[in-house]
Amino acid sequence: MQSNDKSRHSCTCSIIGTGSYVPVRVMTNDDMSKIVDTSDEWITSRTGIKERRIAAADEATSDLASNAARKAMEAAGVTAEDIDLIIVATVTPDMFFPSTACFVQKKLGATNAVCFDISAACSGFLYALTVARQFLNSGARKTALIIGAEKLSSLINWTDRNTCVLFGDGAGAVVMRCSDAENAPGRVLSAVMGSDGNLADLLKVPGGASSCPITPENVESRPNTIHMEGRETFKHAVTRMCHAADQALTMAGKTAKDIDMVIPHQANARIISAIADRLGVPEEKTFMNLQKYGNTSAATIPVALDEAHRSGRIKRGDVLLMVAFGGGFTWASTVMVW
Ligand code: COA
Repeated sequence: MQSNDKSRHSCTCSIIGTGSYVPVRVMTNDDMSKIVDTSDEWITSRTGIKERRIAAADEATSDLASNAARKAMEAAGVTAEDIDLIIVATVTPDMFFPSTACFVQKKLGATNAVCFDISAACSGFLYALTVARQFLNSGARKTALIIGAEKLSSLINWTDRNTCVLFGDGAGAVVMRCSDAENAPGRVLSAVMGSDGNLADLLKVPGGASSCPITPENVESRPNTIHMEGRETFKHAVTRMCHAADQALTMAGKTAKDIDMVIPHQANARIISAIADRLGVPEEKTFMNLQKYGNTSAATIPVALDEAHRSGRIKRGDVLLMVAFGGGFTWASTVMVW
């Protein structure tokens, strides 16, 4: 699925504010090595991750999301009443239903918003951004709050060293609006999305839902935790992300040389290096913060975007390439001018 604002619409969708929030508790690789047979050396060399954040027991995904959202709204200069669309991308909702977006609405007091969640795993934020653009471009909604938020610690099997070292908790948010100004800052130039459900089994949480409810008989085998074929996932991630990035660049009328910063999904430093390499983008133009947070799924890109903006790593007018890959499999890429 591909879309390009310029081909069909006169208005321009722009991100007008960003925010992020990570829980206070830090869990280092050395802490991990006390739980499973692993080491700081293995985790750092295979993934680039040094530490991750773990939410408190009484902190739900909607709490992380609301904290990030408040910062994005403050940066955008909008009130809760201004927000008329809330989309939360998450695979760790507070509950099966209501949606996490509805809980966020309640916590923010955004009474004018229509609210729903998107499930596209680590591609969720870019999926949500694209869905929100359709609402804004069509004129159906005016001010969208788009959030990627995860409490992945609630899905981790803490006895599986293959997966437990990889993930963390966090949330990032953006406020998006349409404007008539063709050169509005934060404008989205292009977006591509894709999915391949044939590969669903390579990365999943198999239990706890309708196909495999938790029972006294299966609870010991922890079906309600992340199961992943790491090597296969790695290969598909690199291929799909490179292809999606190429498509998004072409659609935006840009080449790799035009990119000022790649803001990729933060799963593994080796995946990010491979993508930068294949695209021909130098490492210094590739944003990486996974050493601090691990893989926070739908939250990685909005957290990275917020950090890149607030730290001054990106400035107005920069061309940004965002690219993601996740369970499903799903993938997505967006080119924008900051
Ligand atoms: N500590 C120490 N050893 C570990 C370990 C850990 N935390 N996790 C796995 N190992 C071991 C394995 O048991 C295996 O041992 P063996 O050879 O004795 O069987 C060995 O390390 C190599 O395992 P392998 O899975 O082949 O490692 P890898 O180089 O593929 O790295 C991942 C593993 C998970 C880091 C890597 O495959 C990866 O990043 N995959 C993609 C993950 C991802 O991006 N997921 C989300 C997509 S959105």
